[in-house]
Amino acid sequence: MSSLRSSGLRIKELQVEYKNGQLALGQVNLDLPQHGIYTIIGPSGSGKSTLLRAIAGLLPGYQGELLFNGKSVHDKETLIGLVPQNYGLLPWKTVHDNIRMAMKITRPAGGSKQERETQIHQWLTSMGISELSGRYPLSLSGGQQQRVAIARAFAILPTILLLDEPFSALDVITREALQQIFLDNWLAHPATTLFVTHDVEEAILLGQKIIVMPSVKQETPEILDNTAVFAMKHEDKRDSNEFFEQTKQIRKVMQEKW
Ligand SMILES: Nc1ncnc2c1ncn2[C@@H]1O[C@H](COP(=O)(O)OP(=O)(O)OP(=O)(O)O)[C@@H](O)[C@H]1O
Ligand SMILES: [Mg+2]
Repeated sequence: MSSLRSSGLRIKELQVEYKNGQLALGQVNLDLPQHGIYTIIGPSGSGKSTLLRAIAGLLPGYQGELLFNGKSVHDKETLIGLVPQNYGLLPWKTVHDNIRMAMKITRPAGGSKQERETQIHQWLTSMGISELSGRYPLSLSGGQQQRVAIARAFAILPTILLLDEPFSALDVITREALQQIFLDNWLAHPATTLFVTHDVEEAILLGQKIIVMPSVKQETPEILDNTAVFAMKHEDKRDSNEFFEQTKQIRKVMQEKW
């Protein structure tokens, strides 16, 4: 019964301590509905990357439960796409091959070679980097690498999409363009998404809810509803009253919790 009601990503009393005894994440409880998108902001060191890593299955241990549709999030049927904070690209593979390899590993039976090539080209084009296809990651700027990492995460059509400050290295104009592209891509393939950002505006522009992490690990994250802004046309959000109110609200929470 509960598995039906708990459709989506459910984080129950997650707590992470690294081997050196460092408490990285205190008590996190969170319900993210299937096909929902939540943004996370929080001070440096508050455990945002740790939270994503735990969900992505990259931590050797943690306390608590991580469920997707009532089953462990690490079950084979849940495909997780991660854009790590350091992009996570394979330096010895070209941009094209980074994406092709991820697709091959995650969906070995996913379409013909030609179909795959078309998809790779589409994802690169949507991120505005089709001309970088044959280049190697270390020859790219940080912002270009970020876009490759985002294209790769989308290309595997994940069930859960985790993004760790994916636009941090971009200039304002490129960043705003990519926020729109990101939302369009997400609407076309609405993975259950957690999006970490340092940018208050970005958190409001992209999330249905906004999770504000505390700096003190014993405190629980504050979760703000943002559906009013989320429902607007993207280009209208920034100038709306709701956006302004939400900015004030988040700043207030930040002053209390950071
Ligand atoms: N591999 C590790 N071993 C030990 N401690 C770690 C490790 N990775 C992170 N930590 C510690 O865990 C805490 C949370 O780190 P985390 O990287 O999750 O923070 P964050 O919120 O993502 O920060 P930032 O905004 O700077 O990216 C920090 O105190 C950090 O020093
Ligand atoms: Mg981080």
